[in-house]
Amino acid sequence: MIEQVTRLQGRPFTQPTSVDKVNEAKRFREAFLKVEPHFDAAKADRDILNSIFAWVWKDDSCNTLGFDYNKGLYFYGSLGLGKSITLKALQQYMNDLKRRDYKDWRLGMWWKTASELANLYACKGQPALIGYATDNLCVDELGREPIPALNYGTPMNVLQFLFQLRYDKRKEYLTHVTTNLEIDKIAPMYGDYIADRFLEMFNFVEFKGKSLRR
Ligand SMILES: Nc1ncnc2c1ncn2[C@@H]1O[C@H](COP(=O)(O)OP(=O)(O)OP(=O)(O)O)[C@@H](O)[C@H]1O
Ligand SMILES: [Mg+2]
Repeated sequence: MIEQVTRLQGRPFTQPTSVDKVNEAKRFREAFLKVEPHFDAAKADRDILNSIFAWVWKDDSCNTLGFDYNKGLYFYGSLGLGKSITLKALQQYMNDLKRRDYKDWRLGMWWKTASELANLYACKGQPALIGYATDNLCVDELGREPIPALNYGTPMNVLQFLFQLRYDKRKEYLTHVTTNLEIDKIAPMYGDYIADRFLEMFNFVEFKGKSLRR
């Protein structure tokens, strides 16, 4: 019951009092190396990495970008800047924390590309999307999906539909995004009302620089 009440009231990160932050920072780095064996922290944005770690542990001392701990992460920027591997590493780390029995509503993250979601609708129709209205979800490559997707000729802007559902549940489940869409491109693709809801759903994190693809 207490667990349930705290969940509904902003759900603080339930954690053992003695979290070994040095060890956790090491595990966090290892998650990046698992996703990308050539990962070089010097090529990444230190503020972004620190603030993501701060976001996980709700640690104001290293939250240099001022992330809101109860909102998801919207990684945007041009091609090859490490958005997907960064989110994948966070997913890896959060899932690892869950396996180690940490309790937090934000742990446990599923992964789908926007195109996979659009394709799911095209093949199986709207009912197949309902399963993606709940649970923490990473949407990779937002904006690269076909709009509209067609299911037996019936068109749908699939991500617009899903964001609407997920906005209603934003206090229970987080959404994270990687995309090349700048903030001002959201409204033209998904509508003004989705762009407005995004302000409540996401921390906007800009990745800058030149492509790191080799
Ligand atoms: N810090 C880093 N150290 C070494 N390599 C990196 C680093 N960040 C990214 N890379 C390399 O750049 C490639 C592109 O990274 P990633 O796929 O995450 O980019 P992205 O921003 O998601 O790009 P896109 O917008 O095209 O999807 C990775 O495969 C990886 O090899
Ligand atoms: Mg990517």
